[in-house]
Amino acid sequence: MELRNKVAVVTGAASGIGLAMSERFVADGMSVVMADIEVDALTDAVARLQAAGAKVEGIVCDVSDADQIASLRDSALAAFGAVHVLCNNAGVGGSGKPTWKTSPAVWDWVVGVDLLGVAYGVQAFAPLMVDQGEGHIVNTASEAGLCATPMLGSYHAAKYGVVGLSEALVMELAGTGVGVSCLCPELVATRIFESTRNAPAHLDLPAPKPVPMEMLEGLLKTTALDPGVVAGNVVDAITEGRFWVLTHESTRLRVHHRNENLESGRTPEMLAIGDDL
Ligand SMILES: NC(=O)c1ccc[n+]([C@@H]2O[C@H](COP(=O)([O-])OP(=O)(O)OC[C@H]3O[C@@H](n4cnc5c(N)ncnc54)[C@H](O)[C@@H]3O)[C@@H](O)[C@H]2O)c1
Repeated sequence: MELRNKVAVVTGAASGIGLAMSERFVADGMSVVMADIEVDALTDAVARLQAAGAKVEGIVCDVSDADQIASLRDSALAAFGAVHVLCNNAGVGGSGKPTWKTSPAVWDWVVGVDLLGVAYGVQAFAPLMVDQGEGHIVNTASEAGLCATPMLGSYHAAKYGVVGLSEALVMELAGTGVGVSCLCPELVATRIFESTRNAPAHLDLPAPKPVPMEMLEGLLKTTALDPGVVAGNVVDAITEGRFWVLTHESTRLRVHHRNENLESGRTPEMLAIGDDL
């Protein structure tokens, strides 16, 4: 798909990977609807890009609410007349507790944003892309949608769900002109570790501890990617019509190891980042 003069909608666009995808789409000549729940960060990002001449609109939207996603679609059509690329990217990391200590309210939050937000995006936007015979949907899953580690049970459940949903979707949309990509990053230097900043107040989760810049810079020198690199991976996948978007070679090794466990009947074990596979 040629991106110039087309329209993208990006959720979770006020920070991290979503912001980087929005910036990259603008640089590639697209109009972008940037959607997020975090009002101040969204307003700042949109104002900065508009001041630089970009065709962007900001829409406050909670992706876990199907009605708000339907309004997002209507606002995008009102602003730019069509939608060619949808990035279902908004996500939260969960509470960092063991699965068996995760409350129903936290399950609702994590699955609502990370899995249902993607499902609602697909349901709202795919029909108009099928009607126009052209489009591309990018669902942000994670390496955590392919392999599991402890303390992230609700996140894994949601992200494995996004992978399965995306695999079904690409088969369903074959021949319609609408492509699908499933983005499965490993570590990217974003604010994902501060996700509780966006948790509903009634969950009463502890305020996030800001990740120290030295730590992020240290990670960037080792395993964590700059979000702009991931945005480049996404643009390549859209233009090439490629489904899987893996950001780290180690993901293939971890998936291979998991598949070996599965095929041989071995019980899953903890693998740390950097473990020799
Ligand atoms: N950073 C990583 O290492 C990493 C790795 C794999 C996958 N991911 C996934 O990438 C996506 C983007 O996360 P990020 O790393 O850029 O983190 P981030 O926290 O920097 O950005 C996430 C954005 O989503 C928004 N958001 C949260 N809840 C929302 C809601 N209910 N409705 C609308 N917007 C909402 C936040 O306000 C924020 O702007 C997520 O789906 C995340 O799970 C991140």
